[in-house]
Amino acid sequence: MSTRRTFAALAAALALLAPALAQSPQPSPERGRRSAQVEGAPPIISVNARILPAMAKNGMVVSQEAKASRIGVEILRRGGNAVDAAIATGFALAVTLPRAGNIGGGGFMLVHLAATKQTIAIDYRETAPADTPHDVFLDAAGNFVPSRSQSSGLAVGVPGTVAGFELAHRKYGSGKLTLAELIAPAVALAREGIEVDDDLADSLPFIARRLAQYPSSRAIFLKGEARPLERGDRLVQEDLARSLERIARGGSKGFYEGETAEKLVAAVRAHGGRMTAEDLRTYEVKERQPVRGYFRGREIISMPPPSAGGALIAQMLNVLEGFQLKELGHNSAAAIHRMAETMKFGYADRAEHMGDPDFVRMPIAALTSRKYADVLRGMISMERATPSAQIRALDLAPFESDQTTHFSVVDAQGNAVSNTYTLNFSYGLGLVADGTGIMLNNELDDFAAKPGAPNAYGLTGSEANAPGPRKRPLSSMSPTMVFNNGQLEIVTGSPGGSRIITIVLQVILNIVEFGMNAAEATVAPRIHHQWAPDQLRIENGISTDTVALLRKMGHEVREQPTIGSAQTIHRTGGWLFGASDTRQRGGGAVGY
Ligand code: GLY
Repeated sequence: MSTRRTFAALAAALALLAPALAQSPQPSPERGRRSAQVEGAPPIISVNARILPAMAKNGMVVSQEAKASRIGVEILRRGGNAVDAAIATGFALAVTLPRAGNIGGGGFMLVHLAATKQTIAIDYRETAPADTPHDVFLDAAGNFVPSRSQSSGLAVGVPGTVAGFELAHRKYGSGKLTLAELIAPAVALAREGIEVDDDLADSLPFIARRLAQYPSSRAIFLKGEARPLERGDRLVQEDLARSLERIARGGSKGFYEGETAEKLVAAVRAHGGRMTAEDLRTYEVKERQPVRGYFRGREIISMPPPSAGGALIAQMLNVLEGFQLKELGHNSAAAIHRMAETMKFGYADRAEHMGDPDFVRMPIAALTSRKYADVLRGMISMERATPSAQIRALDLAPFESDQTTHFSVVDAQGNAVSNTYTLNFSYGLGLVADGTGIMLNNELDDFAAKPGAPNAYGLTGSEANAPGPRKRPLSSMSPTMVFNNGQLEIVTGSPGGSRIITIVLQVILNIVEFGMNAAEATVAPRIHHQWAPDQLRIENGISTDTVALLRKMGHEVREQPTIGSAQTIHRTGGWLFGASDTRQRGGGAVGY
């Protein structure tokens, strides 16, 4: 094939797969093998890459929903920095991705400031109300009652999103745009309404029964008694528009005090919860020291407790650095075995040690030390899977679904935001606080209701993660950044409950260890082991031969539906490469 024809074929593929490229200089490829380079593009994009990321030079937003990403990019074009864009995207997702985007939930934001090379971890996780007894989710006989932590007002944590975004804007925004200007696009979308797209249309039927219990939720998301909105219908959220406007006018006081606060408290208490106006008024965002780890010369910066993610990712990368995964082959049985065994140790530590850092001391330095990793690596048999029960006694429990949402932002100056936030379940509790349009979370199910009792993600925990007044439940959300020679290289994160940590781990491994581009790293089939239950979860796409080899080594291999939805930006060679996970349709990678 001539160079000209190769170029034409590549250009066609790029046009199809990466709309953002339309605004970028057209690359001109050389012919050749896997390592052949596209002129003007960095080495990572080769002519025979299996799938291409979106590409941009100046700035990029990658989220699970394209309208929200475009709003973020518009903020960048108007001179806002990555933090401004992230906040506008976050408020927009509360309207366009109501199953996980939120102002009634909470999350974590990692901010990197290029000028000072500072990386800050903002913890805006929900807290338990002050009146939260230790046994809040147990019956009189001391048995865990999942409906209390998942389906009642007791499940609702004091939301942190609005306070988190306000702090990020005040301390780390560009100062060129007001909070009201960042909220305005979300207000418009809520008031004018959005056409129900595939994601909304497909997610609503799963949750329709839960929503139908509450007239306030039914009125927004259902037609008649229980029929979900369908493709082409309009989702109009007038109450949400007014709640957003109160924040635009009054900042976080427009949420934590006054009309919105009164209505949130009334809704929670009407459904058996204990939240008070005082709980809302005294909600505090925390800035924390991020967790740092190292892998193949890179520095990994991620979320500290109350997320378990950063520490486990650092720990697992330390262990895996001692194996030659690349030589073993991506998703070979030998590589998967080493990864799964490493994951088991990480999740056993999660269950044993981790909780809210304001209440428990955690051995983070030890967990993330190379010496500890050497010990763990030495305990891994290369031939056989070690049963989880031999690592620690446990109960087996079912898994649950992919909720939560992540977005990544990088601006022209190299500032970046990695943000994961959540309502916990899809559409949280399913209860919209009457008159606010605000969907409430059921985050307090992330506590260990009692030692050994699995939560909805099958995660068990110890006293370290027990419920208690004003405590933050332990999370797996892992907004993460990777730095190479001090330069920002990767911004990533994902929804996926307990699986978030291993998803982020695999995105990093796929780019750094296996040399994949962001899109390849995202679509590659994933695996997951969380120690309890003792099952190696795999996505469709791992070969039958590989599965047979893993079973021979003693792994109980279970195929499961898609694992997570990573939203990644890879910054290399002067380019930004974005990949919005196609597992949940993708399309939210937008650059300029
Ligand atoms: N609600 C899921 C998490 O925070 O890990």
